[in-house]
Amino acid sequence: MNLNIALLPGDGIGPEVTAQAVKCLQAVEETFNHQFRYEEAPIGAVAIDRFNTPLPKKTLEICKTSDAILLGAIGDLKYDTDPTAKVRPEQGLLELRKELGLFANIRPVNTFSSLLEKSPLKKEIIQNTNFIIYRELTGGIYFGEKKLNEAGTLASDLCEYSEKEISRIAHLAFKAAKNRNGKLCLVDKANVLESSRLWRKVVSKIGESYPEVELSFLFVDNAAMQLILNPGQFDVILTENMFGDILSDEASVIGGSIGLLASSSVGEDNALFEPIHGSYPQAKGKDIANPVAAILSATMLLEHFGLYEEAMSVREAVDKSLRKGIVTSDLDAKSSYGTNQVGDFIADNIVDKDGSFTMNDENIDLGKSTII
Ligand code: IPM
Ligand code: MN
Repeated sequence: MNLNIALLPGDGIGPEVTAQAVKCLQAVEETFNHQFRYEEAPIGAVAIDRFNTPLPKKTLEICKTSDAILLGAIGDLKYDTDPTAKVRPEQGLLELRKELGLFANIRPVNTFSSLLEKSPLKKEIIQNTNFIIYRELTGGIYFGEKKLNEAGTLASDLCEYSEKEISRIAHLAFKAAKNRNGKLCLVDKANVLESSRLWRKVVSKIGESYPEVELSFLFVDNAAMQLILNPGQFDVILTENMFGDILSDEASVIGGSIGLLASSSVGEDNALFEPIHGSYPQAKGKDIANPVAAILSATMLLEHFGLYEEAMSVREAVDKSLRKGIVTSDLDAKSSYGTNQVGDFIADNIVDKDGSFTMNDENIDLGKSTII
């Protein structure tokens, strides 16, 4: 298969982790005989530094004409600590999502058996975790009218949703639930918010055409609690933009590290793949960031194009790295493996279909690998 992939490494650890994802995609190309073409473009703080805008026109153009977009991370401390900044790196990502109509953000959450002990939560609580968050991505409070009075003493952000915005993502979530364990939970705050009551009404109505899916509702405050009390109860979670942002960071704790969670963002015509983590500026250039979320985002890209065997080979290589302890320090404080080494290990194990690296397994187990 030929694919044109727009590469948007972005800020902080974005370039480092994206490079590992590309290594893995290149290994897939070699192993399975595909041709992926990569076109790199700036977004976020790096784009502001060079072009005074977080989303240069050229970047948007490259994204629009690509088959898929692979993004690293967005954000920089110098903007986080300056509430008066007129341009912000995050605006680049939000504009890109809006311009490309990427209304559904899909964030799978599961545990890896080799990491069950790493989670701050008890093994018995998390071991059956396997759910997907369907987060609405182009509406709600993120995109509603923003106001600040002249004195700078009063501010507001409007949370607005139309029936159409709710129904298009609801259909995707119902279809996903139908193909999984048949359970869909709408997370909202319908006891307080008018917009949430519209979500309930629209989603309930759509639910009638998916009789095989069991629909339930949770208020977001309760959902936040249930996620860590009993994550195994969830199959597909459907929610609005900001609740989904917050709950998915919370959910990342279950697996043991935010550096493990991947996501895809899809619309009618485009698809973007990115880790759910931020730019982690403190780790920038230090070769310590966990590349797994970026690599798993690349597997979601492969799956998006029906390349399931390819995606599986990457997932198996990731599993192997976790099993063998070839992990960054967020997963094992004593580990001395860096971002690059973990990426190399995973990529090498994709190319290697005949087990020629097994001769090194003993060394790897002893923690003195010769191949990395
Ligand atoms: C995410 C991020 C973004 C968001 C930021 C960088 C704008 O936190 O993708 O979850 O809030 O959507
Ligand atoms: Mn977020």
